[in-house]
Amino acid sequence: MNDKQRIEELRKILRTANDAYYRDGHSPMSDAEFDRLLRELRDLEEAHPEFDEPDSPTNRVGSDLATGFKKITHRYPMLSIQNTYSEEEVRDFHRQVTEKIPETEVEYVCEPKIDGVAMCLVYENRKLTVAVTRGDGVQGDEVTQNIRTLKTIPQTLPKDFPADRFEVRGEVYMTKDNFLKFNEYSTRVFGKELQNPRNTASGSLKLKDPREAALRPLDFFAYNILTDDAEGNHWDNLEKLDKAKFPVNSLRAKARSVDEVMRVCEKWQKLRDDLPYMIDGVVIKVNSLKQQAALGRTAKSPKWVIAYKYKAEAVETVLESVSFQVGRTGVVTPVANLKPVHLGGTVVKRATLHNFDEVERLGLRVPDTVTVEKGGEIIPKITSVVLEKRPKSTHAIIPPKSCPVCGEALSKDEEEVAWRCDNLQCPAQVQRAILHFAARGAMNIENVGPALVDTLLEAGLIRDVSDLYHLKQEELEQLERMAEKSAANVIASIEGSKARGLDRLLFGLGIRYVGKTTASALARHFKTLDRLFDATPEEFVAAPDVGERIAQSLSDYFHDPKNRKRLERLRDAGVKTDYDAPEGGQPLAGQTWVITGTLPTWGRDEAREILEKAGAKVSESVSKKTTMLLAGEAAGSKLDKAQKLGIKIVSEKDVRSVLGLA
Ligand code: IVH
Repeated sequence: MNDKQRIEELRKILRTANDAYYRDGHSPMSDAEFDRLLRELRDLEEAHPEFDEPDSPTNRVGSDLATGFKKITHRYPMLSIQNTYSEEEVRDFHRQVTEKIPETEVEYVCEPKIDGVAMCLVYENRKLTVAVTRGDGVQGDEVTQNIRTLKTIPQTLPKDFPADRFEVRGEVYMTKDNFLKFNEYSTRVFGKELQNPRNTASGSLKLKDPREAALRPLDFFAYNILTDDAEGNHWDNLEKLDKAKFPVNSLRAKARSVDEVMRVCEKWQKLRDDLPYMIDGVVIKVNSLKQQAALGRTAKSPKWVIAYKYKAEAVETVLESVSFQVGRTGVVTPVANLKPVHLGGTVVKRATLHNFDEVERLGLRVPDTVTVEKGGEIIPKITSVVLEKRPKSTHAIIPPKSCPVCGEALSKDEEEVAWRCDNLQCPAQVQRAILHFAARGAMNIENVGPALVDTLLEAGLIRDVSDLYHLKQEELEQLERMAEKSAANVIASIEGSKARGLDRLLFGLGIRYVGKTTASALARHFKTLDRLFDATPEEFVAAPDVGERIAQSLSDYFHDPKNRKRLERLRDAGVKTDYDAPEGGQPLAGQTWVITGTLPTWGRDEAREILEKAGAKVSESVSKKTTMLLAGEAAGSKLDKAQKLGIKIVSEKDVRSVLGLA
């Protein structure tokens, strides 16, 4: 292959990887691998200026533009940062900086490079007006409603701030703890394992429903103020952001030489594993804004900043075997059992292989020697096979035909990569299913936790959720460590859960793809269990919040005789299986609403009539007494006022879903 061909090949690989990373939130290669290929391309392009192309990945910021969002052109383009993994290049960077500004000393500000999603916040008249993603650097997606759900982002600036347009850039991220919790939830409720905090944060910002986004635990660090004038310095700007109540990372350092910069990089590398959020390096910025302006930029990145990236820690170890785990939703996941090895401060014995496509992509066989990395991920990951070390005799990893726990034949949906066990009686699923059913957001059975569920299963007193409602106090008292009083409490809390209603019941059943929002919408729409039993897939699709995938899942669920039997058993035990619209069909009784802007389908009068029918009082002006603002396109001063007063703002779609209007 000649250089020209290699350049073209690299451009193609990198474009595909960029698209996958920014658009689908899934990286086909590690960051380090991406950076290595980008570097190879840059070197080749430098040697061959004749093949220059403005559209090359070396000249362009990767794009994360998504469909369905309003595009907003950035006043100041959102550029990337030049990355490096070597100290030598940090020194080169310093040399280039000092060549351009020889007369004075250069001071740097070092900040951790947060592994999240870049965000641009615009304030006008001291109020947050728009939030935009980086997009392709020139245009971004408007995600203001989702950003408003982040409690740490100020909606207004302090009074002593000038009322001029004020633009702040920063990083939206998810802490490691929140990611692990949310991943646990996602795996349990949706059967979907998440890749890493960055992709999860990025996906959360692109949710179409701000109520869903509000459930995602996102955080923010502000790191930049953008203005036309180059006065002052970056450090003071960070302090200014801090004073304006923006969350600013307290981990930051000034450095007067490259040696100092490198010391900071090394020091923080040691802290890395203990920080509550993921960082992938250090951003090194020239402090003086005048000097920044003098240094200028290339098409892709400013010349006053460089990111020193930490190498993903990688070690080799042996893949001893692969076991198969069954999750609550029955998804069978291959898990690598590794020869224990030290990595990033912990001993790694296991690594998830995500799914069987991943096994195939890696070309894994047992007992291969593999490279394990903990770079951008919290959860260790096998990144490659060390083929030179492959022993003579190895065996392939074959997806099991039957459930490793209960033996039932596994099935696979065409468009999905997951193999799953559809046996809801499978012991691997039963315990988790019962816990989900009893969880707070579902039937909220206070005294039924993991220990009791295990004991009850072992004692053979329950096999599924319906058995809970047939438990007798005497049976419980027979159990070890179960006094009369606690047995009575358990019975009482089970009894108390009977009245939760159809929405909570539907969520608690753990039907695939049916989260809380969908469960509520279904309950409002169908109202009784019998109507759900009778519904066709078409009728499910006609319900609000239900797409084809969910409809199919619902139809499968309600047509399975085992599920119907279980539900009938729940109903016979006195569990409420229908939905009461609160207050005799007037769910909005006692509330005062204001309507503003142009709604997508309803006219003003129509909207008023719908709200009034549901019991709301509709008023013309926003005041402290306003309960909700129904806002459409081009909403003006009423929206501003509502935001200032902290009044909840909803869309026509929200109202439709709350009122169960298809
Ligand atoms: S400054 C010209 N500071 O890294 C870019 N960026 O690879 C000015 N990032 O898009 C950005 N932590 O999303 C800056 N402390 C930090 C950062 C940071 C993370 C991200 C940011 C940027 C990306 C570039």
